[in-house]
Amino acid sequence: MAIVVAFVSQKGGVGKSTLARAMAREAAAGGLKVKIADLDIQQGTSVDWNRQRLAAGIEPMISVESFATAAQALSGANGHDILIIDGPARTSRGTLEIANASNLVVQPTGASLDDLRPAVREFHALMKAYIPQTRLVFALNRIGTSNEEIESRNYLEEAGYSVLDGCLVERPGYRQAQNAGYAITETRYSALNSRADILVQSLIDLVTRNG
Ligand SMILES: Nc1ncnc2c1ncn2[C@@H]1O[C@H](COP(=O)(O)OP(=O)(O)OP(=O)(O)O)[C@@H](O)[C@H]1O
Ligand SMILES: [Mg+2]
Repeated sequence: MAIVVAFVSQKGGVGKSTLARAMAREAAAGGLKVKIADLDIQQGTSVDWNRQRLAAGIEPMISVESFATAAQALSGANGHDILIIDGPARTSRGTLEIANASNLVVQPTGASLDDLRPAVREFHALMKAYIPQTRLVFALNRIGTSNEEIESRNYLEEAGYSVLDGCLVERPGYRQAQNAGYAITETRYSALNSRADILVQSLIDLVTRNG
């Protein structure tokens, strides 16, 4: 049985696809059999990205497939160590279905209260629907300063949730890399790569420890 890790959020553009791809890249580089299930049928962000990656011949190769539902994604997970669900934004019902099918649910969030408040509400809603708190974790994205990282981490932990170690800073280099089919751990800037790597490795550690 594959370990299932899902990236979800109510808000769009928070970094679900960015982190899903980075996790897939690092897990594949570590020798795990991994597949991304792109559940955003309308945008197909990860599918498009992978087409670009394949065309550019970037190693390691990652398998990405689009599915309409979490159940369909699960049925396509045979023979893989990790199934990574890249979820669509703004679908509360779909999010619960995805969470029910997952061993770990990761929600990326920015640092402003405008981002943090709805992010916490989203996890509260999942807990009300009997998803255990231990299955929920936040990832900090688009952080500006270390103070900002500390404050958002405190906010989320005070709300009762875990937060992955490390965070992503807001940098054009991450966009450039992904535009060309690379993951955020494969940019041209080693400082950006190592920052992304800390976050992604803490996620992989968490998943492989639990699983
Ligand atoms: N830390 C960052 N620095 C710079 N750009 C970023 C960063 N994180 C994400 N981006 C960019 O922001 C955009 C949105 O990110 P991404 O597609 O990962 O979000 P998403 O949550 O999957 O969005 P959607 O809800 O539309 O699926 C992308 O163009 C991505 O390259
Ligand atoms: Mg996306």
